[in-house]
Amino acid sequence: MTNLALFASGSGSNYEAIQRYVTEGKIAANIRLVVTDRVDAFVIQRAKKYDIPVLALSPKAFETKEAYEQAILAELKKYDIDWLILAGYMRLIGPVLLGAYADHIVNIHPSLLPSFPGKDAIGQALAHGVKVTGVTVHYVDEGMDTGRIIQQRAVEVVEGDREQTEAAIHAMEHILYPEVLQNLFNS
Ligand code: GRF
Repeated sequence: MTNLALFASGSGSNYEAIQRYVTEGKIAANIRLVVTDRVDAFVIQRAKKYDIPVLALSPKAFETKEAYEQAILAELKKYDIDWLILAGYMRLIGPVLLGAYADHIVNIHPSLLPSFPGKDAIGQALAHGVKVTGVTVHYVDEGMDTGRIIQQRAVEVVEGDREQTEAAIHAMEHILYPEVLQNLFNS
């Protein structure tokens, strides 16, 4: 079976949505490792619930981004990881990981790319007054949310209500990401 590493920097609700599918046998893959760049990220608590090993490394502890990614890569090799699944990992993937996992890294982004790439995509959408935004799952390249799009879903903006818009987007993410992974890994 395909071995996955989930990368997250924050709450990890997408990680948990995917983990549930995996635990229930609905995605034909194993989550072998959770990787985070924040030693206090809530995703760590979520991973513990499912007995998934966590690699929590602060990039600040390394002299260069290359050294940071080499340290991650060494762990990925130990766990025999085939694919990197980014879910709220707030860092650009550098040449070390891109080179080792070419075409085997995917990400979820809370907008209909190529609109609103980068940070606070939901805030960007609200500021522009769009009526419809959405969710994109895409391959990762060296750019900021520029890789080839795999799947997208639209979500209506709840006007003037960031909280509700955010909740609708997250709910869509938790459906779309597992679905895409099923398509990728369930033959
Ligand atoms: C999600 O909205 C994801 O699209 C974005 O960061 C958020 C992560 O949320 N890249 P969570 O940590 O999965 O709860």
